[in-house]
Amino acid sequence: MGGKQLDRVAAVTGGAGGIGAATVVRLRAAGWQVAILDRDMDLARKIASETGGIAREIDLGDGDSIRAAADWVEAEMGPVEALACVAAHLENPHNPQDQDEDEWDAIVRVNLTGTFKTLNAFGNPMRARRRGSIVTVGSITSLNSSPLMGYGPTKAGIINMTRNFAVAWGREGVRCNTVHPGPTRTPAVEASYARGERSPDAMIRQTALGRLVMPEQVANAIHFLLSDEAAAITGIELPVDSGTLATGLWLLYGGVPDNSAG
Ligand SMILES: NC(=O)c1ccc[n+]([C@@H]2O[C@H](COP(=O)([O-])OP(=O)(O)OC[C@H]3O[C@@H](n4cnc5c(N)ncnc54)[C@H](O)[C@@H]3O)[C@@H](O)[C@H]2O)c1
Repeated sequence: MGGKQLDRVAAVTGGAGGIGAATVVRLRAAGWQVAILDRDMDLARKIASETGGIAREIDLGDGDSIRAAADWVEAEMGPVEALACVAAHLENPHNPQDQDEDEWDAIVRVNLTGTFKTLNAFGNPMRARRRGSIVTVGSITSLNSSPLMGYGPTKAGIINMTRNFAVAWGREGVRCNTVHPGPTRTPAVEASYARGERSPDAMIRQTALGRLVMPEQVANAIHFLLSDEAAAITGIELPVDSGTLATGLWLLYGGVPDNSAG
């Protein structure tokens, strides 16, 4: 899976979203056939027409839908060699006592249970062929406390889950890794800035590089880990966060130095 790929099949869940669509673009540029799997079919069809990928519905909250999508991609497009699990149920910040219980259940069902079922549905045919690579998408909230009370724990669980699959399936030829995006300028996040729910300036202050992450930059990391360039890499987590995790303790000492002008 290195260099220019010719019509091998990759599947991207959440392929209609910000990071997912950028991943579709990156994989298409490397010559992959790409299944764009999403529950938002209007957007998935739009991304398909722009990129030459193929849109197919999936609902990560429903195991039958996940298995049907995996069977469909294998039957209609061919053996899947690469899987990017990008879809997630997102959440706004709040305190734990204000957690909506129905939303908690939906977040766990999609992010944790749905990802687990997706890994099995797409990964078992890879095991049978002894060839495949999988990337799950966590978050920097996987690694530290945040006010994303339902979302954060599910993203932390994705680390453990992915490492488990990496070891269980490593000798069957399937690699599994996780990418942790930091604050990324997707259309959904831009809309959240516009509504005043999040502040881009506050987030930029917490980065080492002084800028937020672009969806294409996360897609580059996902593509790298899916490709043969990463043939010796499995069971790892790769943050793509403009250095946000690295700044952790600097707040205790007045924050990240703003020397960007000099
Ligand atoms: N944008 C960020 O700042 C950021 C930061 C850290 C992690 N992430 C992670 O990156 C990934 C992509 O996020 P994004 O910012 O591109 O979000 P997004 O909302 O643009 O994309 C998410 C996609 O998942 C799809 N989806 C949601 N629930 C689904 C379900 N039940 N079944 C099928 N599809 C479903 C949505 O329709 C959407 O197309 C997610 O896993 C998210 O947790 C994003």
